[in-house]
Amino acid sequence: MSWVTIDQGKCTTCGICVLRCPRCFSLKDEKVSVQADEKCCIVCGHCVSLCPADAITHHRMDMNNFEPVGTPVQFPPDAFMHFIRERRSHRQFKKKEVAKSTIQQLIEAARFAPTGSNVQSVEIIVLENGDRKKRLSDLTIDFFVEMGANAAETLKTLPAGPASPARLQLEKLLRYRDNMLQARSVGYDPIFHHAPVVLMFHSLLETSTPKDNCVIASTTVGLFARTLGLECTYIGLLEIAARSYPPLAEAIGLPEGHQIQSVLIVGYPKLKYLRLVDRNPIRVRWE
Ligand SMILES: Cc1cc2nc3c(=O)[nH]c(=O)nc-3n(C[C@H](O)[C@H](O)[C@H](O)COP(=O)(O)O)c2cc1C
Repeated sequence: MSWVTIDQGKCTTCGICVLRCPRCFSLKDEKVSVQADEKCCIVCGHCVSLCPADAITHHRMDMNNFEPVGTPVQFPPDAFMHFIRERRSHRQFKKKEVAKSTIQQLIEAARFAPTGSNVQSVEIIVLENGDRKKRLSDLTIDFFVEMGANAAETLKTLPAGPASPARLQLEKLLRYRDNMLQARSVGYDPIFHHAPVVLMFHSLLETSTPKDNCVIASTTVGLFARTLGLECTYIGLLEIAARSYPPLAEAIGLPEGHQIQSVLIVGYPKLKYLRLVDRNPIRVRWE
């Protein structure tokens, strides 16, 4: 049984579906045939979206969700570039709740981000509860305290001499530990920065491109959030700790085989950046 069928009464044999997806569609004797199943179809919906005759039905997809594209949105390139350059990592937030409906909008943006082989593996944990945030933040700090202790021991064994990359890395871990402990001692959360919302993007590891799927989803959310007046920061610290520190992984409680792959803090920004910032030119090799 094919997952996709063609209404032959509507099909004009234009061949667009065959051009786009020769794995599932074929044109023979002026008739288009389709055999779409797990061997060839990744349920991307491109065949339905492209068919000018509305002749294709995908039985694994909700056909009500194929609204017409209509007039494509046009962003003036300068404005869009400005929007990209204006984005900043924000770590100071207003004490203003983010409405549930707004968070739902962010989740909806993640839904439409692309995934490798269209696996749609991204899942999100929305963290709003203050006690939960404190618990996960504390465990992340605990992890870096342990890492700092290990680094201090290793540093003692390194020969004196010019600073090696290994030494610099260990010294960085010590600074992380000290800064985090100092922040925590004065009631500051150095992991989530008291953001009202934390979004943890996770995926089954044994699937296509789990990390990319989550990072693309979080990046899509981060940019879309800006249109709602929200700002974000990626929190790699939690991601690293969640991967390496069983007490934190246990406290988060992911489905079997999943791993946190990207984390965003989200809130209404307290600070307003007045200038775009400088960045190094990208090193490019033209071929
Ligand atoms: C993958 C990734 C992980 C990051 N992790 C953290 C983090 O754990 N904590 C934090 O405060 N900022 C984190 N950042 C924010 C960076 O420090 C920030 O993007 C960088 O300094 C550039 O500033 P900008 O985002 O305003 O351009 C992270 C950024 C990225 C891309």
